[in-house]
Amino acid sequence: VFANIVRAPEDSILGVTVAYNKDSSPDKLNLGVGAYRTEEGKPLVLKVVRRAEQMLVNDNSRVKEYLPIVGLADFNKLSAKLIFGADSPAIQENRVTTVQCLSGTGSLRVGAEFLARHYHQLTIYIPNPTWGNHTKIFGLAGLSVKAYRYYDPATRGLDFQGLLEDLGAAPSGSIVLLHACAHNPTGVDPTIEQWEQIRQLMRSKGLLPFFDSAYQGFASGNLDADAGSVRMFVADGGECLAAQSYAKNMGLYGERVGALSIVCKTADVASRVESQLKLVIRPMYSNPPIHGASIVATILKDRDMYNEWTVELKAMADRIISMRQQLFDALSARGTPGDWSHIIKQIGMFTFTGLNSKQVAFMTKEYHIYMTSDGRISMAGLSSRTVPHLTEAIHAAVTR
Ligand code: LMR
Repeated sequence: VFANIVRAPEDSILGVTVAYNKDSSPDKLNLGVGAYRTEEGKPLVLKVVRRAEQMLVNDNSRVKEYLPIVGLADFNKLSAKLIFGADSPAIQENRVTTVQCLSGTGSLRVGAEFLARHYHQLTIYIPNPTWGNHTKIFGLAGLSVKAYRYYDPATRGLDFQGLLEDLGAAPSGSIVLLHACAHNPTGVDPTIEQWEQIRQLMRSKGLLPFFDSAYQGFASGNLDADAGSVRMFVADGGECLAAQSYAKNMGLYGERVGALSIVCKTADVASRVESQLKLVIRPMYSNPPIHGASIVATILKDRDMYNEWTVELKAMADRIISMRQQLFDALSARGTPGDWSHIIKQIGMFTFTGLNSKQVAFMTKEYHIYMTSDGRISMAGLSSRTVPHLTEAIHAAVTR
């Protein structure tokens, strides 16, 4: 009965790793998926995560019972505090409902399903370009997905005028997906002043913000600064949704740990919203896994461990920033044609190089360098040792 099934293409991001794994060259370099690597090119488990895991293992009172549908209560409270700020009036007034979900993707999906069932506007505007999975997550949840202008290839910066025009023309009440910080794939974020203009425009038109916060702490190395955009929208008393992931900032990729928060106008509304979120979650996966959320809660509730985490997080962010500088310096020294200053201007895990898909294919074939076909490279996958190889590949790709 399945004989006529057509083979599906590989995922545009995760498929890069599949191709990389098949390559036997000793020079191969994976700059595709956004996953942190050390200077030695190895995955990193944070020391504070290891310490939290040890504590959990040694605690014999811990059992493996099901979590509630909404997940671990401590984890939810602490996650809301992390993104909205400990002194957030929305939290103090119990206007936020937070549910533990399967990392960023799962949080977005649960939020999208909730909106498709209960929100009066079924159109969501996503930036062009955006993370490849966004279109599918929202589309499959039943929302109609439209794009707003975001990136200007000519300046390799923000198309702020285009963004304001497109959001200004969106039907009132539309949902708008915003990257909280470290926009993926471009590494281009609005300034604080631009965020404020976006906020005013969206609130004046009743557009509903849905933040994707996958990189808190990775953009600037400062957790509070990286939540600035979200907090600006919460401070005005209006509603918003926020999807959080701990994949990058705690390195918990495979633990699939994240949270969806919905900020409401009153505590009563928030509790009714939560009751409906439970109806979304139960038939999808019943309840979320316990281990990753326990690690996060252990770290967030202990002042020492929290501080230790911020130091390790800052070290990851700083290494990425240093990779930007090293790549930029190497291309300048090599005399590679073009202006590469966007490499040091863009922020977060990725550089949107401006290389086209043919150049990317050339670099993969001739230099065994793997990246997404839109020219995005994960700076977190680069090290001082591999910068020269990447520089040679880029130089060859743009001069051939
Ligand atoms: C990425 O964009 O590389 C990451 O967010 C990983 C993923 O799931 O795509």
